[in-house]
Amino acid sequence: MRTVESPYMNWAKLRSAAKYNLSTSGIPNFLMEDFPFEKEDLELTYGVYGYEPLIEAIAARSEVKSENVVLSFGTSMANHLAMATLTEPGCEVLIETPVYELLVSAAEYLGANVKFFERRHENAFQIDIEDVENKITDKTRLVIVTNLHNPSCAHTPDEKLRQIGMAAARVGSKVLVDEVYLDTMFEDAPRSSFHLGDNFVVTNSLTKTYGLSGLRCGWILADKDSAQKMHRLNDLFGATNVHVAERLSLIALQNLDIFRDRARRLLDTNRPLLNGFLDSRDDLETFKPAYGTTVFPRLLSSDTEKLYKLLREKYETSVVPGSFFYAADHFRIGITCDIKMLRDGLERLGAAMDDLSS
Ligand SMILES: Cc1ncc(COP(=O)(O)O)c(C=O)c1O
Repeated sequence: MRTVESPYMNWAKLRSAAKYNLSTSGIPNFLMEDFPFEKEDLELTYGVYGYEPLIEAIAARSEVKSENVVLSFGTSMANHLAMATLTEPGCEVLIETPVYELLVSAAEYLGANVKFFERRHENAFQIDIEDVENKITDKTRLVIVTNLHNPSCAHTPDEKLRQIGMAAARVGSKVLVDEVYLDTMFEDAPRSSFHLGDNFVVTNSLTKTYGLSGLRCGWILADKDSAQKMHRLNDLFGATNVHVAERLSLIALQNLDIFRDRARRLLDTNRPLLNGFLDSRDDLETFKPAYGTTVFPRLLSSDTEKLYKLLREKYETSVVPGSFFYAADHFRIGITCDIKMLRDGLERLGAAMDDLSS
């Protein structure tokens, strides 16, 4: 049967909240009162295929031409639009696992036949190129990876992505790289993988790193031909953008340092605390990423369902069940809350694991 819902999104929206919430992956939302704008900067209505100054600003930061940029409603719609344009029913789409479930649900909804390649924990969630090469077939139209990887935040270096690009090109397939977490590498972030080959398509947004989810400023970087198809297809989905949000998004891009510094301060404060906790637990096996907003430990001592139940009922704490990422013996911890909540939440997580092993 055709996939018509996202189990993860439903959980994230309705059931992830808790007093000690370690389930989020995005930097906390910026408040309007702190946002650097004047009323004169805003306007309600504008044009048809996106606000050119915003498109130009995104093109400049990505070092591409404006014709390669398609605006979208967050990375979510960017992924959907890219997949809808680049696949057809019955084709094969090759996706990483553990996986951000929405990528699978969207591909299945579009009628693609989803195949997986595994990013193994033992291999620090790196991509096994040989495995990807073996799984690409004549029917493959799209290979999808996230960089940084959600949920583990492992970074895939350009060389590996380039190899995937070459393998995909041999059968006429594109590579879709979701870079929504890449900017959490700050000055260590590489150029967008759009530059790694003609068949690369990239999605991104201002949502996760900059605390600007409410603006829904997302985009796709694609070759001119694909970009034009995406513009046309988007006419069927949403027609025009919310112009006030486009104006505010441009201001955000022009003042990105403010948002970047805020994110960096939070992550620099929280990461040592997280790493200290992980080092103290021999009932967890964890790849510790240098960047990003989440980690994805494997629980060694017990079963994860028991842990979630106890965490919720006794400790008022939430983490994201690994089953949403197709890895049921893992769970995801996010470090984007304030330091106090992180400290309290980790303490509670530790206490719940102690309860389970005693
Ligand atoms: C890999 C990945 N892509 C896209 C999204 C959605 O991003 P946006 O909020 O920009 O729509 C998420 C959100 O968690 C994500 O983890």
